Amino acid sequence: MSDIIKIKDEYLKKLNENLDLISINQIKSELFGKNGKVSNEFKKMGSIPAEDRKKFAYDLNLVKEELQNVIEKKLKEIETHQINLKLQNEKVDVTLPERNFNRGKIHPVSQVIDEISSIFSEIGFSVEEGPDVENEYNNFTALNTPDNHPARDMHDTFYLDKKKEFLLRTHTSPVQVRTMLGGKPPFKIIAPGRTYRSDSDQTHAPMFHQVEGLHIDKNINMSHLKGCLNYFIKEFFEVDKIKMRFRPSHFPFTEPSAEVDIGYELKDGKIIIGDGDKWLEILGCGMVHPNVLKNVNVDPSKYQGYAFGIGIDRLAMLKYGINDLRAFFETDYRWLNHFGFDPLDVPSNYRGLSR
Ligand code: DAH
Repeated sequence: MSDIIKIKDEYLKKLNENLDLISINQIKSELFGKNGKVSNEFKKMGSIPAEDRKKFAYDLNLVKEELQNVIEKKLKEIETHQINLKLQNEKVDVTLPERNFNRGKIHPVSQVIDEISSIFSEIGFSVEEGPDVENEYNNFTALNTPDNHPARDMHDTFYLDKKKEFLLRTHTSPVQVRTMLGGKPPFKIIAPGRTYRSDSDQTHAPMFHQVEGLHIDKNINMSHLKGCLNYFIKEFFEVDKIKMRFRPSHFPFTEPSAEVDIGYELKDGKIIIGDGDKWLEILGCGMVHPNVLKNVNVDPSKYQGYAFGIGIDRLAMLKYGINDLRAFFETDYRWLNHFGFDPLDVPSNYRGLSR
């Protein structure tokens, strides 16, 4: 038997076994590599007598082809097998039930901040923010609040150091100071955010929310303030008519100052806003005191304007029928599920910003 046939028989037998990729490649190089058995047969060509050479070449090429075909076929088989394995392992079972997940709810305070920001932005107010940790100057002094003012009392204010230089802001009014110190008039801003006072009962929490408003320009007077608040309250409570009254009051940073009450009635234990003979206080406001303007380098003989501060939590309670303020901050998921807002269920008249 010629060498060629021996090689063929030997390797066909080997290739018939159950081989992995490495062994097949090993065989491939044993046969066709630089010193491979088939390659070496080709090298013999020159020493074969001329009359036998044609047949030798013919037989050798046949064997080469046959072995190559078997090897290619085996390689293909392994490749297909590997692809099938991969497909099987990575198969997605579309019949599996979905994983359980909780869809979050928007907290009523966030919802109301969105609504308020949207309503005021429609009449030209931009939204500003200030830090919760304030200095004494921005929170009190710049706002014309003298050293002996009761608002500075330890019972109301959370001071953060012995020297009483830093505190948790007791209202959003310091954002007025920051805004005016950081820019040039006119100013037309609102500033929603967290505020802090040492107080806790059914309608007070040590942390609560306010929105500050400030409009300073050359010809701003109290009727602008009244018109702006009237518009806001009607839009917010989604009513056409509102009963609103300005009650004289005092704030160090405004002169004159007022508190605003809105009319309501009780029907079946529910508060109906807009009419009725009962009054509910919802905000403080006034014309910005000239001393405040001086403190922030605005000339009060050229510029004047109004400011207001609204309790956001109170508005949220009124609009959405929530009667205990403390529940807002207890992070009870059942409460949030009940009073919160579905982020994907956007009502057609929704006017908030962040959804
Ligand atoms: N900062 C006041 C408070 O927390 C509310 C307030 C009243 C803000 C009158 C104002 C204002 O801007 O003009 O009680």
